[in-house]
Amino acid sequence: MTQQAAAEDFLLLNPGPVPLTDDVRQTMDAPMVSHRSAAFEETYERAQRGLDRVFTESTLDSRRTAAEGAGTSLILNGTATMGMEAAVANLVGKSEEVVALVNGKFGRRFARIADRYAEVKRVEVEWGQAFDLEDVREAITEKTDLVTMVHNETSTGILNPVSAVGEITEGGDALFAVDGVTSLGGDVFCIDDWGVDVAITDAQKALAAPPGISAMYVTERAADRTDGERAPFYSDLEWHLRKAESNQTPFTSAVPLVRALAVAVEEIEDEGLADRIRRHRRQAAAFRRGFSAMGLEGFPETEGLTVRSNTVTATELPAEIEPADFFAAVEARNVSLSGGQAHLGGEIFRVSNMGTLADEDVLRGVRVVGEAMAEAGAEVDGEAGCKAARAVFASDDERDREEASVEAAGE
Ligand SMILES: Cc1ncc(COP(=O)(O)O)c(C=O)c1O
Repeated sequence: MTQQAAAEDFLLLNPGPVPLTDDVRQTMDAPMVSHRSAAFEETYERAQRGLDRVFTESTLDSRRTAAEGAGTSLILNGTATMGMEAAVANLVGKSEEVVALVNGKFGRRFARIADRYAEVKRVEVEWGQAFDLEDVREAITEKTDLVTMVHNETSTGILNPVSAVGEITEGGDALFAVDGVTSLGGDVFCIDDWGVDVAITDAQKALAAPPGISAMYVTERAADRTDGERAPFYSDLEWHLRKAESNQTPFTSAVPLVRALAVAVEEIEDEGLADRIRRHRRQAAAFRRGFSAMGLEGFPETEGLTVRSNTVTATELPAEIEPADFFAAVEARNVSLSGGQAHLGGEIFRVSNMGTLADEDVLRGVRVVGEAMAEAGAEVDGEAGCKAARAVFASDDERDREEASVEAAGE
């Protein structure tokens, strides 16, 4: 390890799990209680209250995007893949049709889950590319029972246009299940305006809680379509919804993880969702501009309503370097980031700005990427990268910040 790296704390920039605050970490150390105790019910209620806000108030003007009581936030004893499977398995059966939108690993995961429970029609484009909305419009017919989509595709750093797909499903019978795993808690998400029936998120992403549990928001419309008879036993949503009324889960709750989640969502409220979303956008803009100014190419091919993510930045690895040299040089500087998944391994690297990162952490990430690229033999201008990233934070020109948001969100 270099002398400088040894002097700097470990910095986790992977797209989940993300760093925890001391309060979130320490609450897991409290003496154990029963998951059927009043003490746990109170914790569950705090977590649920905070989740309600994240699911329904993730706007820039603190506007609610679902009426009070229009849905229920649930906490699941498993990561978001369990939530994705619960959504599909509770809402459709063998002869029913799911239209699955796939432009990355997690869109593909939703489709693969649906393959096990229903008939699946995929709308698929290359990973990192935008959907053609005409293709989506054509695929969704009166025979469609459920549409699945990933909002922020973590594998490619792309923000998909949930709102435009919601307009297509609007007025029809098909339900709309959206994976908001790496957007909820870090970016705008509108349940009602976008026509979302079920939204899913993971604890260890933008909520900045530890991994192991997840959350989902189930609207009344979706709840009316659940079928406890055919649902998987452990993730029977009717049962979960019933138990949630008394602030419990059907089976033994992951008590320490729920405690940590309760603190994490309260910290989100303390920061304020609008401010948190703005901070995420600013920090992602700093990563994007920093990497671009040093001479690296952004990975996803965004177009129209599909834009680059505000929580995960995916960047191409230059052809002239050996990826392993770059990742080793990053690690030697006490920073952790991610490579590409599946066939994108060796093609891209990814950094996250989800959670409670300070602007200095982002600047360190940009600097370390510049240094590691140079060490691996890439021709980059690390200093130009750092300067561009710093300029995003230093600018108090409203227009500049506004531009960073619009550029990033396609609003
Ligand atoms: C977009 C997205 N969906 C779903 C998941 C769920 O993954 P897991 O169940 O492994 O936490 C992830 C995790 O990286 C993700 O980024």
